[in-house]
Amino acid sequence: MGERDSPGVVREESAQSTWAILVAAGTGERLGSDRPKAFAALAGRPLLAESLERLDSSEWIDAIVVAAPPEWEEPAILLAEELVASKVTAVVTGGATRAESVRNALAEVSQEALVVLVHDAARPLVDDATIERLLGRLDGSVDGVVPGLAVQDTVKRVEHDLVVETVDRDALVAVQTPQAFLAEPLRAAFAGDLAGATDCASLVEREGGRVAVIEGDPDLAKVTTADDLERLSQRLLEREGR
Ligand code: C5P
Repeated sequence: MGERDSPGVVREESAQSTWAILVAAGTGERLGSDRPKAFAALAGRPLLAESLERLDSSEWIDAIVVAAPPEWEEPAILLAEELVASKVTAVVTGGATRAESVRNALAEVSQEALVVLVHDAARPLVDDATIERLLGRLDGSVDGVVPGLAVQDTVKRVEHDLVVETVDRDALVAVQTPQAFLAEPLRAAFAGDLAGATDCASLVEREGGRVAVIEGDPDLAKVTTADDLERLSQRLLEREGR
């Protein structure tokens, strides 16, 4: 490590400086599967396998902590072993909310870590180019960087069934993961109240942290329904010529 081309803070640091947290502990009720979403089949293997393999082979990531659903820790460990995902240092039990799962995983991140990348297993197509752009923007002027996509639809604030405001969509982005943070402000944010947090950046923002947005990637869309899973499976199988 150490000799990387991008200008981010990780460049000159020693090994084990960039950790990834892969949150995979959701129930995935909207998927209608008999198992947690991370273990639903994507192109013939558990959904979790895709992002785990990609993060493990990323030159930007030094170590990985996985948050697994309760009772699914062992299958997660076995999957990491099968994939020879050698950067996985711990598999923790997820919490009742995404934020609690991140907090549980953060407890296993080394105190030596400079940067922590948090990613949803539900977004399988994470790629190195996005990770490189995130880390490149984490240049000391901000505490975190998130990928975001412009909002295409008109967005309205509604109370009961009445519109109270049409929001200026030019000022809005739909935020994805992976999200990259300096370890210290991320830890500080997770030491506080986690209520209502739907992503990590919102907790960092709540503590007064600065979060930058880079251009997101439509391929990072979250798998939510059985249709999402089916479409993505087809794509992956076609790509592999299966
Ligand atoms: O539920 P949703 O799809 O928004 O979850 C986003 C990510 O957070 C998923 O990868 C899911 O596994 C994870 N999660 C978690 N622990 C929870 C809820 C969600 O790790 N309690």
